[in-house]
Amino acid sequence: MGNAAVDLTVRRMKFGFDARPTGDKYFADGSIVFSHTVALLSAIFPPGEDIFVRSVRRYLDEITDPELRKRVLGFIGQEKTHGLQHRELNEQLAAMGYPTAWFEYLLQSTERMEKFLDKQYPSPDRLVRLRHFFLGFTVAAEHFTAVWAENILNSPEIQTMMYDPEIRNLLNWHALEELEHKSVAFDVYRALGVPESTRIRWMRFDSNLGIPILLAFAWLSIIATDADGRRQPWRILRETVQMLRNPMWKGFYSAMRPFKDPGFHPDQIDNTELLETWHRELFGDDGQLAGHLK
Ligand SMILES: [Fe+2]
Ligand SMILES: [Fe+2]
Repeated sequence: MGNAAVDLTVRRMKFGFDARPTGDKYFADGSIVFSHTVALLSAIFPPGEDIFVRSVRRYLDEITDPELRKRVLGFIGQEKTHGLQHRELNEQLAAMGYPTAWFEYLLQSTERMEKFLDKQYPSPDRLVRLRHFFLGFTVAAEHFTAVWAENILNSPEIQTMMYDPEIRNLLNWHALEELEHKSVAFDVYRALGVPESTRIRWMRFDSNLGIPILLAFAWLSIIATDADGRRQPWRILRETVQMLRNPMWKGFYSAMRPFKDPGFHPDQIDNTELLETWHRELFGDDGQLAGHLK
């Protein structure tokens, strides 16, 4: 079964995040580097997901297949909910000393420009390449997040590394839904007939520079905001190597490779079993997150 067959449920969630410092500051395996990296990811998800939503939503009127339209609405609903919940976590992370607001602010920079262009040039026949550019970015980033999600859900080690149970819950729920909707933006891309080269170029950029850029910002986050981290440069180096070897990142480069094939489709990677297991685990009768549903 491919993911196109998954009925996309938009789950309204309630996590127990509080805009106060709670628990261990280094909530990811006690590691300064891993914790700053997870905080950075959480900070960039809401504005990043807003870009994904805009890049797909601007084609909504052109999608005539009712099934794909339904999936697009599910995709938009899920991504919007992820943004809302990560914003709540980000306030807690900010109270714990992480510069989440800064990273969100930086990534939000395209919003004003995109909204202006959509208003000024509403016709899809204008600025075609720029619109395709954003959609290609989304399609490549969705593969990136699907691989990340698969790694998180497949790895008992990552589950135990997340000391904070509520952060672990949020990541698991987000990862599950990323896998559920992993092919939606791709199917929009194909339905519109956008050249494969655009998404492949984006993936070249992501696979070469995605992790180095993420690492650079995680280090910047430590240098600028974390006195304990600044005092321990050798620990930072050691933890960086450890993090790149942990199951969340391991095998990332090779997982990016099939995407560069013009015949690739995300559903060629079958996640049916993983989805069924985690759906039961999180939202079954006694599921870990059954009580988090609003
Ligand atoms: Fe998401
Ligand atoms: Fe997504």
